[in-house]
Amino acid sequence: MTDYISTFTTGFADIIPAIVKKFLPGAKIISIYDGLVYYSYMGKYENIKEILVLNNTFLVIKTYHGNASDIDDMLKNIMRLKALPKSNGSFRIRYSVNNKFVGVNKSYTRQIEDKIAKITKCSIDRVSPQTEYWFLQRSENVGFFCRLLSKRKFTEKNLHKGELRPEFVYLMCMLGKTCKGSIVLDPFAGYGSIPKQLMLNFECERVIASDINKEYINNLRSQFKNAKKVELYVRNALNMKDVTTASIDSIITDPPWGYYEKIMDIGSFYVDMLKEFDRVQKDEGVTVILSARKKEFVDAVNNSRYHIVKQYDTLVNGKKAAVFVIKKYIL
Ligand SMILES: C[S@@+](CC[C@H](N)C(=O)[O-])C[C@H]1O[C@@H](n2cnc3c(N)ncnc32)[C@H](O)[C@@H]1O
Repeated sequence: MTDYISTFTTGFADIIPAIVKKFLPGAKIISIYDGLVYYSYMGKYENIKEILVLNNTFLVIKTYHGNASDIDDMLKNIMRLKALPKSNGSFRIRYSVNNKFVGVNKSYTRQIEDKIAKITKCSIDRVSPQTEYWFLQRSENVGFFCRLLSKRKFTEKNLHKGELRPEFVYLMCMLGKTCKGSIVLDPFAGYGSIPKQLMLNFECERVIASDINKEYINNLRSQFKNAKKVELYVRNALNMKDVTTASIDSIITDPPWGYYEKIMDIGSFYVDMLKEFDRVQKDEGVTVILSARKKEFVDAVNNSRYHIVKQYDTLVNGKKAAVFVIKKYIL
């Protein structure tokens, strides 16, 4: 078994074990922290790389607990190191304390660099190395000395402004509990990140995606030209007259937050939105909604036939937001 740590989107710790088990049969989760999973896995590392929701993955070389996880103590310990897992190419060293990069005494860095270079026969490159050795100190009194294996594939540069990251959407879709026969609705489709993810990685019968903005839908029409399962419409999500009552299984969506659009009262917008969702959704359906307007959304839920099953507090582009899983009260 080899030990790894992988980072993931903050707030979703309780659904990561299911993902690890599904994609890495035989993997054993050692610990799960906010945004970081520590596990052993016997299979090929390439299988880990394929998992969309795991961002950066590291090979764990040494783990430290309690006081020993203090960055200075980890450094002193590593100076006594005699062997390291095989590695190629150039490297540099990075230090992270509570998810922030920090600097340490330069002479320590030089000594550890020399040590790693001597053991692995790799060269030091502090600007664009092929790999990185990390000292990672966490607030939970645990520390890791590890080697970076892969970085997340997607960066903001590949996305439109306001488009959600694929790994984030994957987590939302997981919460939507879709299955073979499901009819799924995203009535605030924008650039289509949710329908795209549903098409690529989730079982469902049909995805109905709509947006009030015609340009977005025209753009999606060309993207989904060959996707028979996706239906696209220009329509107001607060009044979806052409959607049959009680016809939708799951609603997975990212409505406006009222910060960038002309919405007078986001609280009333959410109240009206939930009224319409209540009409179109089957009673046993699951709804997954992302919003940064947590208070307004919770108030709207309290004003509706829905209740909050689970709230995942997270960050979207550094902004506090939450993914809400809601269901209807069934009498
Ligand atoms: C936060 S964006 C969705 C972004 C999308 N999840 C993505 O990743 O591209 C919200 C979308 O809701 C749309 N919208 C705003 N008010 C609407 C309404 N009343 N009915 C339908 N769509 C609406 C906007 O045009 C915008 O595309």
